[in-house]
Amino acid sequence: MVTLAKTGNSEIDEQHAVMQHCLSDLASLLEGPCEPAALIGSLEALTSYAEWHFTFEERLLKRGAYPHLPEHVAEHRAILKQLSSLRRHLGSGKREAVSLLSIVGQWIVDHVNHEDLRSAGYLGSNESDGVLNERTKPALSLRH
Ligand SMILES: [Fe+2]
Ligand SMILES: [Fe+2]
Repeated sequence: MVTLAKTGNSEIDEQHAVMQHCLSDLASLLEGPCEPAALIGSLEALTSYAEWHFTFEERLLKRGAYPHLPEHVAEHRAILKQLSSLRRHLGSGKREAVSLLSIVGQWIVDHVNHEDLRSAGYLGSNESDGVLNERTKPALSLRH
């Protein structure tokens, strides 16, 4: 997978690294033989983390009166929709799931490398304190 660009906001960059880890985890599970429950668990971990991260960013951008917030939110929604479609197709065969994962993975990379970078450039600082309670962050148990 293509490397995710650094936005300069350390919290957001850390969250992107977790999402990238979740994507790699799911991709490596799909490559080999594995239990359907493991695949579903991995996809659910990615989805719940992505939802949490998107909410974090949207609150930050709203607070900073980011002028392109609607487009940014629309991209988040499209990624979540694609993840939900992947969840529905997980049982229809690995080939389709691998292809859908590759699409959603590319959408995430494109979003981070363009829209997240642009919005972080607009905010221009590391001021994300208290934007979202850490206790609400999904707990992940990723394989390493
Ligand atoms: Fe992001
Ligand atoms: Fe974003």
